Amino acid sequence: MKKKILLTGCAGFIGSNFLKKIAVPNKDYNFVVLDALTYAGHYPTIERDIEENEHLSFVKIDIRDNEKVRELFETQKFSGAIHFAAESHVDNSIKNPNIFVETNVLGTLNLLNASLHHGEENFRFCHVSTDEVYGELTESEPAFTENHKIAPNSPYSASKAGSDLLVRSYAETFGMDTVMTRCSNNYGPYQFPEKLIPVMIAKAMADEKLPVYGDGRNIRDWIFVDDHNIGVWNVFLKGKKGEVYNLGGDAEMRNIDVVKTILKVLDKSEDLIGFVEDRKGHDWRYAMDFTKAKNEFGFSPKVTFEEGIKLTVKWYLDNQEWVDSVKKAKV
Ligand SMILES: NC(=O)c1ccc[n+]([C@@H]2O[C@H](COP(=O)([O-])OP(=O)(O)OC[C@H]3O[C@@H](n4cnc5c(N)ncnc54)[C@H](O)[C@@H]3O)[C@@H](O)[C@H]2O)c1
Repeated sequence: MKKKILLTGCAGFIGSNFLKKIAVPNKDYNFVVLDALTYAGHYPTIERDIEENEHLSFVKIDIRDNEKVRELFETQKFSGAIHFAAESHVDNSIKNPNIFVETNVLGTLNLLNASLHHGEENFRFCHVSTDEVYGELTESEPAFTENHKIAPNSPYSASKAGSDLLVRSYAETFGMDTVMTRCSNNYGPYQFPEKLIPVMIAKAMADEKLPVYGDGRNIRDWIFVDDHNIGVWNVFLKGKKGEVYNLGGDAEMRNIDVVKTILKVLDKSEDLIGFVEDRKGHDWRYAMDFTKAKNEFGFSPKVTFEEGIKLTVKWYLDNQEWVDSVKKAKV
């Protein structure tokens, strides 16, 4: 009998890419996609994948709904879960932090409880987290390792850290088989046009001003979404019980240089850059040390930023209809 794996949040950016690149070709498993289809979840992105593949199915459930989550686990008999679903946009968490705690903390708790009580034997829970739970680095500090203290600075990262700690506690208290990834900034196709790279591509294409926070010198590590998802799948399959794995793209860049690269790829003038008031509590720098994932299962990002950004800009140029439909669906 094939194992059945729950994938949460696969109508969103990273999850939909996971579905297309990892779940679709992996017919040794059955995958059940759960998504509430919030403003960030767009069913048409994955509709054909679900319809054309018998080993994939979809349920519209909000992970905040404990009863529905429990019923799903009772009926489906999962052997594992990979948990992508979350409220994920830092700016939204500054405006409305409550839903971040409801989805990211309480929603994850509902999944953990259902997994504990109704998961099949040898059930594994893979929690997809973020580098932002570590807080920020100065320019000279070494990159985050998995042993770095948890010091989140935004309501988003605090809610993700809350879920990370719950996952840890279920492993420690109940002996649950959990693994966790913490990854740096992703970019690639199907990213909702609210995040830095799709926003800048859209503005540049429309010859509008590109709004850069502060002086643009904040540093992020960028990873192409497929490299992240290969890492997540390897952690799910090969990670050691109870462990956390950092994943990263080995591509630290200042925000201003990311924006300049996009303008260059699109052959647009840097005069389009405009600086705007800095984000509240804007972390200065993130950088990931992923030696552990490299040593244990050979994780290494394959797509360089130069290649990945060209692929991404081309994808947005070719898929303007998707951008329009995502925006329209949410108005
Ligand atoms: N984007 C990044 O750069 C990045 C980096 C590291 C880690 N992560 C983590 O990866 C995961 C996916 O991020 P993303 O960028 O794809 O996010 P996203 O916002 O694009 O997608 C989130 C998905 O979760 C769904 N969702 C939200 N609330 C839900 C709820 N209450 N019940 C069920 N489904 C719900 C949405 O409908 C959407 O499909 C998140 O856990 C995020 O913290 C993201």
